[in-house]
Amino acid sequence: MSHDEFPTDRPAVVTCGLPYANGDLHVGHLRTYVGGDALSRALETLGQKTAYVSGSDMHGTPVAVNAEKEGVDPEEFALRWHEQYEETFPKFGVEFDNYGHTHDETNTELTREIVRTLDEEGYVYEDEVLVAYDPEADQYLPDRYVEGTCPYCGAKARGDECDEGCQRHLEPGEVEDPRSVRTGNPAEYRERTHKFFRVSEFADYLTEFLDGLEGTSNARNQPRQWIEDGLQDWCLTRDMEWGIDYPGAEDDDIVLYVWVDAPIEYIASTKQYTERVGTDEYDWEAVWKGDGEIVHVIGRDIIQHHTIFWPAMLEAAAYNAPRAVAATGFITIGGKGLSTSRNRAIWANEYLAEGFHPDLLRYYLTTTGGLQQDVDFTWEAFQEKVNGELVGTVGNFWYRSLLFAYRNYEGAPEGEVSEEVVERIEGAIGEFREAVNDYSLRGVGQAATRLAQFGNEYIQRNEPWKLTDDEPEEAAQVIRDCVQIAKAVGVLIEPIAPGKAQALWEQIGEDGAVAEAHLEAALEAPPRNFGEPGELFEKIEDDRVDELEAALEDRIEAAATDETETESDDTGAGEDAAMADERDLEPLLEDRISFDDFQNLDIRVGRIEHAEGIEGADDLAKLEVDIGFETRQVVAGIKQLHDLESLPGEKCVLLANMEPAELFGVESNGMILAAGEEADLLTTHGESEVGEKVR
Ligand code: 2FM
Ligand code: ZN
Repeated sequence: MSHDEFPTDRPAVVTCGLPYANGDLHVGHLRTYVGGDALSRALETLGQKTAYVSGSDMHGTPVAVNAEKEGVDPEEFALRWHEQYEETFPKFGVEFDNYGHTHDETNTELTREIVRTLDEEGYVYEDEVLVAYDPEADQYLPDRYVEGTCPYCGAKARGDECDEGCQRHLEPGEVEDPRSVRTGNPAEYRERTHKFFRVSEFADYLTEFLDGLEGTSNARNQPRQWIEDGLQDWCLTRDMEWGIDYPGAEDDDIVLYVWVDAPIEYIASTKQYTERVGTDEYDWEAVWKGDGEIVHVIGRDIIQHHTIFWPAMLEAAAYNAPRAVAATGFITIGGKGLSTSRNRAIWANEYLAEGFHPDLLRYYLTTTGGLQQDVDFTWEAFQEKVNGELVGTVGNFWYRSLLFAYRNYEGAPEGEVSEEVVERIEGAIGEFREAVNDYSLRGVGQAATRLAQFGNEYIQRNEPWKLTDDEPEEAAQVIRDCVQIAKAVGVLIEPIAPGKAQALWEQIGEDGAVAEAHLEAALEAPPRNFGEPGELFEKIEDDRVDELEAALEDRIEAAATDETETESDDTGAGEDAAMADERDLEPLLEDRISFDDFQNLDIRVGRIEHAEGIEGADDLAKLEVDIGFETRQVVAGIKQLHDLESLPGEKCVLLANMEPAELFGVESNGMILAAGEEADLLTTHGESEVGEKVR
């Protein structure tokens, strides 16, 4: 099934993976929540009616274990964090239409209702399962109460997930060599009766669902393998007190697995939004029970939950299926995995205390790697991005053009915008629309910054300061054009930098909120008069960055020697995804391929004949590669990583039967093989000829 392009006339909801209410927010969380916020704002700018919802994930062992460490009741503990999140998100411009929590009445009721339906429809059965048990503590050990070895990849694993290895969801009883987190003792397995959801019955449905799924490629493709490997039914209940009771089994010592009630909060939170604004304004049932557009933004460690369990549950309970799942990549800090226990993190409150505007971080996080790519954070890279793109391009254009307009015309000169500029703004609008439909936040940011770049070139090329005396009409035309470009940049950059866009909006004398403006506003005339503008972006000085880098290093060192710290590394949807493996290497794939599969890869020795950067694309280069039979044009993400001029003549290795793709409007007909973050290009070391097959 293919979907209509955004904007559609159906309401949309953008949801964000719920953070576990169990610890401080940091840049890893923000990456996902800012991403969801920006996407939801961008959809609104397109004219798509959109609600942005989420809530705190209050249940489960991630909360219970941490509350127990503090000696606090889990409800009190989780509510405390929930309140802190509610306060923190808006400080980063993350404005949910509704932010609830999984322990509230709406979610509790809805969860029980949905589970009842699954039961009534025959999708639930009881079965015996092995559950880890700590004899000393006389306690069953669900999920994070137990640690051991992943049966699939051998990495250290928690009870329900292999978070340091293959990232698989693990069912109760699967972890090998179980150990109790409570006492550190070896745990034993005991048989218990639990409820199971027949996920295995949904293989065909899910395959079809994935065919139509939009979002990032990792979310669309990874689940296919899980389905091919055979779907296991899913244990719905846990031996613990903290959570939502299984309907009808209130007296038993079991509750629903946290992953049942957590995604249901997406629906409950949307429902609460409708209850607040009324169905005329936004109808949650049209979205979840009708054919509205459901877009999930999540961390990439929870793809399986959102592309297998959750859509199966929605289908079984007769709810609408998600249109898109966009999964964000990892965040690293200075090339190393973000680690809360080692204090190798940039904390949300710490960032704010440094006095940086939230939009700077929003811009960095959304445009550095787009949604899916990993993002490395260093203060130096942050400075470079801010000074280069926000101060140097956007801020510089806004200030110089508006100041000139104010001083010479007290605002925007009268008259129509020139044809060249209308066309350029229309082009930027098209880029924006395409980027949103591709779930590319980087593309959204680029539509704005490239337009500002054009503005800088335009004013420079036309030199209005030389025209004011002798050619006043021409000068006025240039400035009229520039004010329009400035306004258009404001409209386009709003999803990424809402605070700065609003400040610009006010500087050009517009009323109301730029967040309410749709794309067409980019071409609508601004008010005639405005006051003296100020500079909206400030350069970050080198000394400041040196201090920040040094302070971060000191902190990491201090934390590394402080062995008393507790491990609380995964406290939220964004964060799990945000944390790269502490080791520098990606884990080996467990799934083997056959020799025939390998033979299907047509890998050839090639020689680079020509290499040039692709204009407007930060990382992409276009290469001409001779592969013996013909010369192939390929696009590779190596613009920043190699001296392109030195490449012609170099031998390389190319996957020749890769499907052609178009990147930045340039066709790529093959894939150059390269290793690691620095894209070390693979080559041959003997006499093999161009065109020879690699086997
Ligand atoms: O992995 C996590 O951090 C979970 N709290 C995410 C829940 S998202 C959802 F579906 F509710
Ligand atoms: Zn594993």
